[in-house]
Amino acid sequence: MTDSQAPARSPAFEFDYIADPGVLADWHARYWELKEQAPPVFWTGAHGGHWVCNTGSSVQHVLRHPEIFSSRYLSIPPNPNQPKMIPEMLDPPEHRPYRQMLRPFFESKAIAPLEERIIEWTDQLLSEVADAGECEFVSTLASRLPVAVFMELFGFPMEKFDEFRHLVVSFFNARATPEERNALAQQIIGHLAQLIQARMAEPRDDMISKIIASDVDGRRMSFEELMSIGFLMFLAGLDTVTNAMSFGMRHLAHDPALRQRAIDDPDTIPHLVEELLRRYAFVATPRYVVEDVELEGARLRAGDSILAPLPLVGWDEALNPDPETVSIERQFYRHAAFGSGIHTCLGLHLARMELIIFYRAWFRRIGHFRQVDKGDESCRGGSVMALENLHLAWDA
Ligand code: HEM
Repeated sequence: MTDSQAPARSPAFEFDYIADPGVLADWHARYWELKEQAPPVFWTGAHGGHWVCNTGSSVQHVLRHPEIFSSRYLSIPPNPNQPKMIPEMLDPPEHRPYRQMLRPFFESKAIAPLEERIIEWTDQLLSEVADAGECEFVSTLASRLPVAVFMELFGFPMEKFDEFRHLVVSFFNARATPEERNALAQQIIGHLAQLIQARMAEPRDDMISKIIASDVDGRRMSFEELMSIGFLMFLAGLDTVTNAMSFGMRHLAHDPALRQRAIDDPDTIPHLVEELLRRYAFVATPRYVVEDVELEGARLRAGDSILAPLPLVGWDEALNPDPETVSIERQFYRHAAFGSGIHTCLGLHLARMELIIFYRAWFRRIGHFRQVDKGDESCRGGSVMALENLHLAWDA
């Protein structure tokens, strides 16, 4: 079923994962409400009709069975014309050789040399706002740091930072029309193509040159494959870190005891990062059902789509007692903010490193802060949730 309406299935519960007013007001609060009110796996008529997982166990089952729940479209409704993102939109067995090729570039020891640079970038960005005593956090900090890191990691010339950042921020802006976003995507693709062509002609000591020189199944990759990998990195690694920072800071603005812990004992910050990811995971990933299957009382048919909201895993009482509370005293932080199974985020070490460095620098330099105009911020719905703005203030 692609663009037409699928026949209704049961149990049904009306929910629009992109435009539900509750989602737009407060994504996490709305999904929490659904968890309490809707069936474990339910059908909604929105967006051509699709299933929604509403328990941590159903989300994990879907992610761990790629032979039944395919990533071939990664959109609801499925869009067969969408360009393939490698490796995220590949199923087994095609997925594995690309993943194996990419994995070494994202291991802890491979990204360790970036640490110093991330610290420098963070300090520089904080210097630009610290004395003002206030900022719109998403545009001044959260959307900037990941762009700098991505450019540095991938090998983009840093003199293009402002131009590239502008493109990125406009691309992820929820208010961009599909035409505007398409035009921006073309510009980003243009930058990527230029970079890949330059490094194919003259390799340097950067990640993109090393990817170009890597083999997949005993052969070099084509220009199209390299572009697909590059564009996925862009989509996967920029907006996500921004959102993790924004949702995390919004919580901290209202949790003085946790802020005090981070100020007094910076060694707790890795726990803080993990707990905030658990409580405020923000991806709901789509899958395409390739064979008839039963899932927690629902009968799914081949050709159906299903949405797997990842926060539900961290909100599962059986995995994390008292899941609503944010606490850094947990023995384990069990969550699926980075996914689960074969597509588990390749950038998770890098993302954690960025977040830890950021919170350390913030609490050392700025300390306590508060949210101004609470309720003014709004969420972007869809499969990667975002806070569109977050006004913070502190005593400078
Ligand atoms: C807090 C930040 C991040 C979060 C929450 C996050 C989350 C995720 C999730 C949930 C998936 C799996 C999606 C699915 O199963 O459909 C994923 C995949 C992926 N992520 Fe991340 N991500 C983050 C940062 C990054 C960064 C910084 C990079 C790299 C620069 C990155 C690169 C990737 C790649 C390449 C994949 C595809 C892996 C595969 O298909 O095998 N991510 N990410």
